[in-house]
Formats: sequence, structure tokens, C-alpha cells
Amino acid sequence: MKKIKLSPSILDSDFTRIKYTINLLKKSNVDFIHFDVMDGNFVPNLTFGPKFISQIRKLTDLPFDVHLMIKNPEKYIDDFIDAGSDYITIHYEATKNIIPIFKKLKTKRVKTGISIKPKTDVNKIINYLKFLDLVLIMSVEPGFGGQKFMPEVLDKIKILKKFKKKYEFLISIDGGINPDTAPLACDAGVDILVSGSAIFKSKNPIKIIKKLYNICKK
Ligand code: DX5
Ligand code: ZN
Repeated sequence: MKKIKLSPSILDSDFTRIKYTINLLKKSNVDFIHFDVMDGNFVPNLTFGPKFISQIRKLTDLPFDVHLMIKNPEKYIDDFIDAGSDYITIHYEATKNIIPIFKKLKTKRVKTGISIKPKTDVNKIINYLKFLDLVLIMSVEPGFGGQKFMPEVLDKIKILKKFKKKYEFLISIDGGINPDTAPLACDAGVDILVSGSAIFKSKNPIKIIKKLYNICKK
């Protein structure tokens, strides 16, 4: 029975209570913490940078799943490596220098990830699978938490699954994941659920985390 992994996105958490949030995630034994880095250019929103991540790094050993929604991530990749990222996921649509970024990450023993927007054809990234530890399928248009899940992206997961025999990579889904949509993602075959507002906008985040872990158990 495959145990789903959970990567809560702190984007919609209360940053004035960040220590409380990190302790809650530690207590809940989540698999990763998902950091949504946005530059106001690649996506129409601006969030936080490497300094924020390096500060949180002091609070926990939980693996950091850093999602770079930034144009030309090659310009900043060293900063995010130095900030203590464990996984760094860049967007296929954000740079022409994908392979050099992956090679750099590998030399620094940081896990490599690629993400595609809902409208990007999954076949565009098949040739990168040999370099990848993670593929992040966006089930919302990147830029904001709290958006509606786009079920049409589930077909991409079914296509990616066929390559898992040949390559070692995890499939993650990100956007609109909650107790209602999580089973659809699990049935399609994801390894990791990224969930933000469903957890942090709820009155009982720990209860939602437990629910997301249990809902995919078959
Ligand atoms: C959107 C981000 C997602 C988002 C998830 O651009 O990449 O990680 O914050 O939040 P929810 O779960 O609220 O869609
Ligand atoms: Zn994300």
C-alpha cells in the first residue's frame, strides 16, 4: 500500500506565527514543507526569497520543497541552494537553460524538479526525466493559493507514470488540493500532494493534514 507524501505550502499561512506553523508541521510529521517563491514577473504575484527560506531553515530539519515560479531561475539558483533547499523545482516555461540548472543542482546534491503549467504539454518535459528527482504538475494557474482544482491535468500524471519504470522521479501535484480533490490525484498515481489553503485556511490544520494522509490509503 503506497503511503502518499504531503508537502504543505505555507504561502497561505499566517507569517506572523511562522514558528507556530513550523512546529505544527513538525508535530504532524509531514514529508516536506513547500515554499512558493514568486517574482511578480513569471507569475503576477510576489512572495518571498532565499533569506526567508534560510531563516526557516534554522527552525526545522524537514525537507524543503522549493517551488521557483520565477523567470530565469539560473540567476538565483545559488542563493536558493545556499538557503538550504532540499528540492528545487523550476518551471519549464521560465528558462532556456534547464539542463545547466539541473547539472548545478546535482553537483550541490540538491534534488532537481521541473514544473509545468496547466496548459503546457507534458511531452515537453519527457526528455528531461533522466535529470529529474521530481515532476510538479500544476493543477492551477501558478501565482496564488486558494484556486479551483483543474482535473484535466490528471491525464499528464497517467502519461508520466509510464516512465517511472525507466526513470527514478516522484510525481507531485500542486494547486487546489483538498480532501475532495486529493483522491482524484491519488487515483491518477501521484506520489506527493502539495496543499496550502485547505490546510492553513482551516480552523484545524492538523485535522486536515491527517485527513489528506488517510484519504489516499487504499
Ligand atoms: C500556486 C502555488 C501552490 C499554491 C497551493 O502558484 O504553487 O503551491 O500555493 O495552494 P492551494 O493548495 O491553496 O491551491
Ligand atoms: Zn507551489
